[in-house]
Amino acid sequence: MTTAQPQPIRDGILLFEGKISRNLIMDPMVSHTYFLEDGDQVILFDPSCGKEMGRRIEEHIRTRQRASASWKRATLLAGHSHLDHAGNFYLADVIDVPETRVYVHEAGIHDGKVMNDPAPFVRAVARDSNECYNLYLSFYFPYNLLLTPLALVNLFSSELASRIFATLGSLAFESPRDGNTSPEPIKEEEKIDLNLGGVKLRGWPLGNMMILPTPGHSPCSVSLFWPEKKALFISDADWIGNPVFLKGSVRDCISSFEMMKTLAHAGQVDLLLPAHGPVKEGTRSILSHLDSHVRRLETLRDEVLRLHHTSGIKDIRRLTKALVRQSPLFRMLKGSNFPRFVCFVHNIVTLCLLEEGVLQKEPACE
Ligand SMILES: [Fe+2]
Ligand SMILES: [Fe+2]
Repeated sequence: MTTAQPQPIRDGILLFEGKISRNLIMDPMVSHTYFLEDGDQVILFDPSCGKEMGRRIEEHIRTRQRASASWKRATLLAGHSHLDHAGNFYLADVIDVPETRVYVHEAGIHDGKVMNDPAPFVRAVARDSNECYNLYLSFYFPYNLLLTPLALVNLFSSELASRIFATLGSLAFESPRDGNTSPEPIKEEEKIDLNLGGVKLRGWPLGNMMILPTPGHSPCSVSLFWPEKKALFISDADWIGNPVFLKGSVRDCISSFEMMKTLAHAGQVDLLLPAHGPVKEGTRSILSHLDSHVRRLETLRDEVLRLHHTSGIKDIRRLTKALVRQSPLFRMLKGSNFPRFVCFVHNIVTLCLLEEGVLQKEPACE
């Protein structure tokens, strides 16, 4: 159940709880927002989406302003550019302090614009998938009844099919409210060497905090590390449907988890704060959580590759069908497939084959 009141997690860290959607045609995903106060600066990690969440955060900002919060600097940082995370940048205007920055990793910005507009976002996702398998024939009952006609439209115009799909797929999401501060790209070339208690990493300093690259869920995924609180805000790095879209990566998901594990082993992180689901506290619980995700991804990849090698099947839809028949893990994923939940089983299978060089994006994808 979602709690309307923000929850204090640790001194200076407040959690605005989001919402997990169980049907993405009718109900949007809403990420958590972490509201951080550190001296004269305020940081919103994952400003989330939707009027309701915006209103809750606005209310809190005004309460803090009435209580004479003396902020001089404000930073809004999207853990990545997905719709449920990067929709409420207007909150920078509500905070209204002399120095305001809005940051999104450069991979989440195209032609100077954050990819947070629902219909274009879904259209791009549909186009990517449809390059490797027939997206419109990959849905499970009862959604296959709704989407099979799109396979016909796709024969004549893939552009029209992707537009119709994008309209349906983005119905639940409101348009983003961007505000007056233009989002700035976090650039790969500006990463610097960081030494976090003996752990050497590359990332971007942000006052007393650090932004760390944690790609995998998306190429623009970043985490925020607050050393003083031993807190790591990881956005969707541990999303159960990872890697969700074809821009994601199984390998990068695993390396991002390994980096987080290194920090936890070194005693630098004892609070892991995801954008969906509960906060994890304590080194042992965090390590076991991260390990279980690594094992799950490795198992998925092993199962895909083993079946591909033994059966010779390269066609994504046939291979996915066989995996769902044989593997309890893939059966579970089938039950979570979009639009029931943010998970695309066929994309996971495709990425495993692409990353192992079994498929090339073109023309081998069937
Ligand atoms: Fe999310
Ligand atoms: Fe996401």
